[in-house]
Amino acid sequence: EGMIAAMLAILDPGDEVIVFEPFYENYGPDSILTGSTPRYVTLHEPDWSIDPDELRRAVTPRTRGIVVNSPHNPTGKVFDRSELELIADLCREHDLVAFTDEIYEHILYAGEHIPLATLPGMAERTVAVNSMSKTYSVTGWRVGWVIASPELSAGIRKTHDFLTVGAAAPLQQAGAVALAFPDAYYAKLAEDYRVRRDTLVPALEAAGFRVFRPDGAYYVMTDITPLTRDDDVTFARRLILDPGVATVPGSSFYSRPELGRTKVRFAFPKRAETLAAAADRLLKLAPTPA
Ligand SMILES: Cc1ncc(COP(=O)(O)O)c(C=O)c1O
Repeated sequence: EGMIAAMLAILDPGDEVIVFEPFYENYGPDSILTGSTPRYVTLHEPDWSIDPDELRRAVTPRTRGIVVNSPHNPTGKVFDRSELELIADLCREHDLVAFTDEIYEHILYAGEHIPLATLPGMAERTVAVNSMSKTYSVTGWRVGWVIASPELSAGIRKTHDFLTVGAAAPLQQAGAVALAFPDAYYAKLAEDYRVRRDTLVPALEAAGFRVFRPDGAYYVMTDITPLTRDDDVTFARRLILDPGVATVPGSSFYSRPELGRTKVRFAFPKRAETLAAAADRLLKLAPTPA
């Protein structure tokens, strides 16, 4: 809601917006609903790095914005300072607005979360989108916030008023309470997810997946080629039936589905016993020693 309100306020039909892929699936459709065109730039495994030349080549005279999601869904990548500086340089050079989705900012296992708006010259050209969903484990509430300069936020406020008028009042009140939680709350949140990650990652490795270890968020992207010649959708369906574990096919995170055909994404916001049961089931996939 924050992202689409910001894009509707800032992008015009005919504009272009850069979206990294794999992506959280809303950004492209959000852009299309504004009449603008998403331009996809691939993050390269194993560390989901940006190729600076590919990024620069994606900028055209019509480019107006870029979406940056860190920590990242679906890969768990946390963009480091040099990557954010590359993006900031491009924004300053071409007068772009950065739409940052920082919803996983507190679910971090390595590195640090650097808000793009804190880089020189970026505060006035960044729209930071955030939410209660992940930080306070209330994913169905759909309550969040957007931080932007007065110039940018004036349009976003008006647009939002015409979209939903406002978020449900009792949920906003709960949000105000949550935002005052002490630092210890956030430390425990990250630690609890770290334990879950450190349960699932070795279990996936033992089962035979090639694992892209996440530094943040609560997803694990995996390469399925050591286990199967099936494509991602066929393999994901098979996993649901036997051994009974649900994943998301990798192709759903790409504009060009072929880029995700050898991948599936696991999510680990689950109870310890559920993850332990999944680990047991996945072991059934492990190739038996000759
Ligand atoms: C990167 C990202 N942004 C936004 C959302 C949704 O946010 P909200 O729950 O505030 O609608 C999700 C949920 O999966 C997400 O992964």
